[in-house]
Amino acid sequence: MTIIETVVLLQEELSKYRDTGKTIGFVPTMGALHEGHATLVKQCVRENDVTVVSVFVNPTQFNNPDDLRLYPRTPEKDWQLLESIGADIVFAPTVEEMYPEPDSRQFDFGGLAQVMEGAFRSGHFNGVAQVVSKLFEYVQPHVAYFGEKDFQQLAIVKKMVQQLKLPVKVMGVPTVREANGLAMSSRNQRLSDAERENASAIYRILRESTSLMSQKSPNQISSWVKEAINNVTGLRVEYFAIADAYSLQPISNWKEADEVIGCTAVYCGDVRLIDNIRYK
Ligand code: PAJ
Repeated sequence: MTIIETVVLLQEELSKYRDTGKTIGFVPTMGALHEGHATLVKQCVRENDVTVVSVFVNPTQFNNPDDLRLYPRTPEKDWQLLESIGADIVFAPTVEEMYPEPDSRQFDFGGLAQVMEGAFRSGHFNGVAQVVSKLFEYVQPHVAYFGEKDFQQLAIVKKMVQQLKLPVKVMGVPTVREANGLAMSSRNQRLSDAERENASAIYRILRESTSLMSQKSPNQISSWVKEAINNVTGLRVEYFAIADAYSLQPISNWKEADEVIGCTAVYCGDVRLIDNIRYK
């Protein structure tokens, strides 16, 4: 496995593979890797000749300076994990390498970016699009892997690829969870044991809510979920929304969409966690 910090060296290394017709798979991450990331990387290794993983904590997608400052960084552990599961190239640039000058690009994803995370983390998806578009340009992967845990991010990356007509296939990978159901996240490292236990209620409640579909409307389920989560010690719902899984626009009737998703952001202490569940 090769660890590379500059775009020039990355492209030099990748051209060897490109010239011999190898397929390049790519997994962008912000490091502090866990089993969720590992699942994406393993799928990428299985499905491509060469696997590139980027590890870069992207400042432009953080709207809260404390969240950026406290974001866990565990490079040595990350390299060990990536090596053990067969990654070929790790791209770990500095902020100066990725942003030699400020990125002023403004993306427009319409309604997709205005709801849920987009409504509560202003500028977040613009920052994600800035960094992912740069990474796609530098790596030029055939396939890129994104987790369904960040459901809205996956939808926005697909939209960006369509808008920019990039020759990249974007693959969604199901959410990997702890044994207690808590969606794996780098931010979980900031939870105490007791908080992890409390946070496991999020997915339990989301699951339970799917069994109420025949008796309750989307709005009634939303109220039920919010109340149930807020009743758990230490948890506070920021939003819960039931939406069309393609447009991400809220629905008020189950018949309004063929595929329906419920997305939530919940504070556990001062750690912000997100999760989602399929209704159909
Ligand atoms: P990060 O949070 O490190 O996540 C990297 C990738 O791993 C994302 O596609 C995310 O959805 C996926 N992932 C995280 N936890 C997962 C889980 N429990 N199960 C399955 N997949 C999971 O998302 C980002 O970084 C950044 O926004 C990035 C796309 C790298 C741009 O900076």
